[in-house]
Amino acid sequence: MPRIKIRKFLLIIIIFVCCMIVFEIIKHLYDDFNDESFYITDSSVPIILWWTPFGGEEKYTKCGNVKCYFTQNRSFMKNLNLKAMIFYGSNFDLNDLPIPRKPNVKWALFHEESPRNNLMFVHEEALKLFNYSATFSRFSDVPLTLLELPGEDELQDKSYFYSTPQKNLLMKQNNLAPVLFIQSNCDTMNDRDLYVTELMKYIAVDSYGSCMNNKKLPDGLEQNYLDKLKSREFLQFVAQYKFTLAFENANCDDYITEKLWRPLIVGSVPIYYGSASFKDWLPNDKSAIAVTDFKHPRDLADYIKQLLHDDRKYELYLRHKLSENGITNEHLLENLRSRPQYLFSIFEYYVRRFECVICQKIHKNSVQTMTRKQYNCSKPKSIFNNKEKKESSWTLMWELEACTAKLLNYWLSHNKTFNSNQFNKEKLQMYENKKCYK
Ligand SMILES: *[C@@H]1O[C@H](CO)[C@@H](O)[C@H](O)[C@H]1NC(C)=O
Ligand SMILES: *[C@@H]1O[C@H](CO)[C@@H](O)[C@H](O)[C@H]1NC(C)=O
Ligand SMILES: *[C@@H]1O[C@H](CO)[C@@H](O)[C@H](O)[C@H]1NC(C)=O
Ligand SMILES: *[C@@H]1O[C@H](CO)[C@@H](O)[C@H](O)[C@H]1NC(C)=O
Repeated sequence: MPRIKIRKFLLIIIIFVCCMIVFEIIKHLYDDFNDESFYITDSSVPIILWWTPFGGEEKYTKCGNVKCYFTQNRSFMKNLNLKAMIFYGSNFDLNDLPIPRKPNVKWALFHEESPRNNLMFVHEEALKLFNYSATFSRFSDVPLTLLELPGEDELQDKSYFYSTPQKNLLMKQNNLAPVLFIQSNCDTMNDRDLYVTELMKYIAVDSYGSCMNNKKLPDGLEQNYLDKLKSREFLQFVAQYKFTLAFENANCDDYITEKLWRPLIVGSVPIYYGSASFKDWLPNDKSAIAVTDFKHPRDLADYIKQLLHDDRKYELYLRHKLSENGITNEHLLENLRSRPQYLFSIFEYYVRRFECVICQKIHKNSVQTMTRKQYNCSKPKSIFNNKEKKESSWTLMWELEACTAKLLNYWLSHNKTFNSNQFNKEKLQMYENKKCYK
């Protein structure tokens, strides 16, 4: 009897141990399988929080040989593994900030837009709040300069392209002006509308948007053309024109938008004003005409007329369409070729890339603060002389926002709780006492 009891006892112990082992194995497998629950408790995996929801699903991501956990769930604010927060510039809201700021949590700024969208960012005091950046500038951690350029193939593709003889014929048959202007946002910092008005005195410009409108859009585009900027119909429409006015709404280093890329892609020659460094990004040294190369709109008009009378000279601007190896700008090629060849969404690609760059920098403990170099915009200038505009509502806003930046920086570094009324009061006081801007 006792022997049987001992055997039974042993058997139970053995079964128990086996169960434990199997349980451990299953638990381990499950943990490996379900990365999230495993790594969240693993203090070697930094948590990165999208403060302005933008990052999509909660996820654990491998970046090279390091890992991070990305979330937009603000309850992770309390987690000791929280290492960085990412802000989307246009949604940066003073009334909704993670304050008091924790010294060991880095801030990252993703902002592809022009400063028009949030003028505070033109001031270094605001930029200094951030450690990592993805902006239009080539000097940011993830440059977004080419965000709106689909790719190398599109620059050379001829599906919309009209040859010069075809364009000459279209001008005659359809009574088209040589120059296209299409703009519906008329209140800009840089006098672009006045410039176009002046230019029109010397050369014909077809203007279809609500600014200086002088022509009706074709039927299919008449309603909401702004929603159709990427449509075949719109691109075909732009392609008919020999020249297209491409005036950005801000002057920032490397701030280049589809205003430049679209005419390049369809084979209309852009006449450009905006980023002073735009020539660094053209397919060839001669792919666009810079407004700043001309003293007066009259001189620009004279030059356009020269090109209208000389097809060979005009075609020098279309080398990316007409030559075998049409793109000679190595800097541009290098940047385009560093992106994966087939992208579901270029925007998504840059967002993911920024996430990984932040993750890697956090693992490396890299110490850095954003400066003006990563967001270098000049005060509103007039397109006529490329000089600062003294009297304009934009200039006033610009200077007022210098106070926002300065005061915000002060409040955050002194752990002040944000009070909107108080903030605006102090800001206006500083502005009136000229304490923010020289
Ligand atoms: C955020 O996380 C907390 C705790 O992990 C969880 O209870 C909550 O449901 C999450 N919220 C959302 C919106 O996912
Ligand atoms: C991040 O930026 C803040 C604000 O400029 C600065 O105080 C902090 O030292 C920076 N941290 C790192 C790790 O660079
Ligand atoms: C910003 O741009 C101006 C001219 O456009 C240049 O003189 C200045 O050095 C730039 N600043 C930085 C920090 O890159
Ligand atoms: C602000 O708070 C942080 C902790 O959240 C602390 O380390 C820092 O010293 C405080 N700064 C000031 C000026 O009180």
